[in-house]
Amino acid sequence: MAGQIDALYFFLVAITAVFSLLIAAAVVYFAIRYRRRSEHEVGAAIHGGLILEIIWTVVPLIISMGIFAWGAVVFFAMSRPPAETLNIYAVGKQWMWKFQHLDGQREVNELHVPVGRPVKVIMTSEDVIHDLFVPAFRVKADVIPGRYTHIWFEATKAGTYRLFCAEYCGTKHSGMIGQVVVMEPNDFQAWLSGGRQEGSLASAGEKLFSDLACNTCHRPDAQGRGPLLNGVFGQSVALQSGQSITADEAYVRESILRPSAKVVNGFQPIMPTFQGLVSEEGLLELIEYIRSLKAPGQTQAAPSPGATAAPGAAEPARAPEARN
Ligand code: CUA
Repeated sequence: MAGQIDALYFFLVAITAVFSLLIAAAVVYFAIRYRRRSEHEVGAAIHGGLILEIIWTVVPLIISMGIFAWGAVVFFAMSRPPAETLNIYAVGKQWMWKFQHLDGQREVNELHVPVGRPVKVIMTSEDVIHDLFVPAFRVKADVIPGRYTHIWFEATKAGTYRLFCAEYCGTKHSGMIGQVVVMEPNDFQAWLSGGRQEGSLASAGEKLFSDLACNTCHRPDAQGRGPLLNGVFGQSVALQSGQSITADEAYVRESILRPSAKVVNGFQPIMPTFQGLVSEEGLLELIEYIRSLKAPGQTQAAPSPGATAAPGAAEPARAPEARN
């Protein structure tokens, strides 16, 4: 995005500079040209100039609408990640950034990504509002407790880039910094497979799912007291209230923490809340597990070309490439 954002930014600077100079020059010119030449001179009264007024209304209108349209195009490109992205989860807390890769790699204040591949960072906060900012990529978004926001980027050059928290979040806000390490795809694969083998995020979610006994009600055979979760993620869900909602990260999170908020049609609000029992990271693991559950008969999502081949690829519950 950097090229597009810079072009728009420099255009704004240029427009501002041109008009500032124009106005400053006009002020000086008029001050000299129409200065008072004798003690008793009184200026002539002017009653409007229609042509002039139309010009100074229409010209700025065209310019500002042009800026608006251009800005909107860039904004939409920034806020709509491509369909195929490498998803990484981020949790902000006072005062650090925690990143979780789908394969189970975790890191703090460092984010490793491959070059030339769209990356989507799905973010939430454990405490207050933070804001993830990578100036070199021109991406920045608030990280809000209880919500999932995202940024996406495609790094074009290997190297190390700074990342910041860009929202004042307390005493050590200024220390809430880190770096994005952009690696060649092969190096990235090597990095992913190195380090601790903790299993994928989805498999950690699967374990948590049974530890919390979620599987006693949400059974894969659809005979449980809770709705079947297989194939639900990303789909529209009919609610008891007659409305429907897309089962996204925010909905899954809310259903775990406040189960009675949006009850699925045909089910009783009997699920207890898990508020305080699941950490933000645990929620991300559960979300990733539910995302990985495919509907009966639906095959597992096939890895896209260049998708991360990870340890534990044989596990059925693992989503090789998350998509939404
Ligand atoms: Cu987190 Cu400032």
